Amino acid sequence: MRVRMITAEYGNVAKTGGLADMVSGLARWLQGRGHDVEVLLPDYGTGDGGAPPDFSRPQWDLNDEVHDGILLRRVRCGAYFSDPAIYLGDERDAARFLMFGYAARALTHTLRPAPDVIHLHDWHTTAATAIAPSATAHEPRSVLTIHNIGYQGIFEREALPAWSDPAVTDALTMPGRRDQVNFLAAGIRQADILTTVSPTHASEILTPALGMGLDGLLGTRSGDLHGILNGVDYEYWNPATDALIPARYDVSNIEHKRKNRTALRDALELPSVGDGPLVAMVTRLAGQKGIDLVLGALPDLFAERAFDCVVLGTGEARYEQALLALADAHPDRFHACVAHDESLAHRLLAAADILLVPSRYEPCGLTQLYAMRYGTIPVVRATGGLADTVEHFDPGTGAGTGVVFRDADVTGLSWGLRQALDWYGEPRAWQGLVRNAMAADFSWERQGPHYERLYATLTDA
Ligand code: ADP
Ligand code: GLC
Repeated sequence: MRVRMITAEYGNVAKTGGLADMVSGLARWLQGRGHDVEVLLPDYGTGDGGAPPDFSRPQWDLNDEVHDGILLRRVRCGAYFSDPAIYLGDERDAARFLMFGYAARALTHTLRPAPDVIHLHDWHTTAATAIAPSATAHEPRSVLTIHNIGYQGIFEREALPAWSDPAVTDALTMPGRRDQVNFLAAGIRQADILTTVSPTHASEILTPALGMGLDGLLGTRSGDLHGILNGVDYEYWNPATDALIPARYDVSNIEHKRKNRTALRDALELPSVGDGPLVAMVTRLAGQKGIDLVLGALPDLFAERAFDCVVLGTGEARYEQALLALADAHPDRFHACVAHDESLAHRLLAAADILLVPSRYEPCGLTQLYAMRYGTIPVVRATGGLADTVEHFDPGTGAGTGVVFRDADVTGLSWGLRQALDWYGEPRAWQGLVRNAMAADFSWERQGPHYERLYATLTDA
């Protein structure tokens, strides 16, 4: 099959979170299976060229590059993507991603060979579905994957550029909200098949509690909605071969994991980090991620238990500031790395004993999957993909891969972390838990065939 991925993030080329990992992992797996995959993404940080930016008309050309065996077709859209940031976080994103959607839609028919399936990811790509189908050319069928329903691309209609075709603006408009556009809702109405990134989250988004206002619309399409767990690219996230970590290890020589902790302590200049358990977090600093629970729980736990904690994250200023303040208040116990640092993410997962993922909602979550492979025990809240991938450990039977807590509050997280620290204090139980976690298999070999079958239902029709 010829599959064209349309996405705002890809691999390490353009990444803020798991969307980038998921698209590159799936693309690489499909290509390995013999499918023909290409990826369309904006060419961030290009297109200004010193000339005054022309925002008066849609415009694009392509900058092709083969990256890790995959054809990346970066779309240059005049000055629209001259900023290197993937998201600007304000109404300029409406015009940028409308532009990208126009380009992707136009390229559907002009780029050869034509795809059998168009796989769209998140709201940044769905403007492509708002443009009326061609009366003459064959239209490829489409899959829309909802990675994060918390980001819908909601803007005032005025935020769309003057060149936007009124029919497209109408197609992007929420019924009953004539003043607003909602990019994701338009994609949900138009795409042939909808997916989200875990089975539990597929049920959650049909409810008012987690549908973020789209549960009603999704309900009208529930027969076309599939929950498919993300896979992990174990060529890239594997402590036995990871070139980014100082000491490689696997389950047979797990004692080498310790060297990564010493190296991290030296690299981050954390001489105060003791020999007790090291707790980590690697995350976008967004409301979804339960940062407030961490900020609330840690001070009391520092007083009560011996452990150190390092958080790597970037995002909302309120969380960045609060984490830095916590580090100031507990310099001997807590370290905040406010940055996006791919290498540090690998080194931290390799160095830590415990990873916190206390999300309020989590469509899939990838860091808990990476952590497990690195022998780092996840403490997760029972929501979405976290609930689908981490099994609460039972020291009696020896089964389980982590700690799962229920309530999205400080008490819930504190209970979960205490539980992990208790088991850490029982070496036999801990070794069993670590072995279970490292053996868990979330490879694309297991998850990819679900997409392959969905694509086949579209192309056989
Ligand atoms: P989300 O997509 O909601 O951000 P995931 O758990 O699916 O959550 O994916 C997060 C991805 O982003 C992982 O690859 C993680 O390592 C990476 N990541 C998040 N924050 C950072 C950071 N500050 N530096 C480096 N990598 C990060
Ligand atoms: C999103 C979700 C995350 C998921 C990732 C990749 O950003 O927040 O749970 O793992 O996309 O699908």
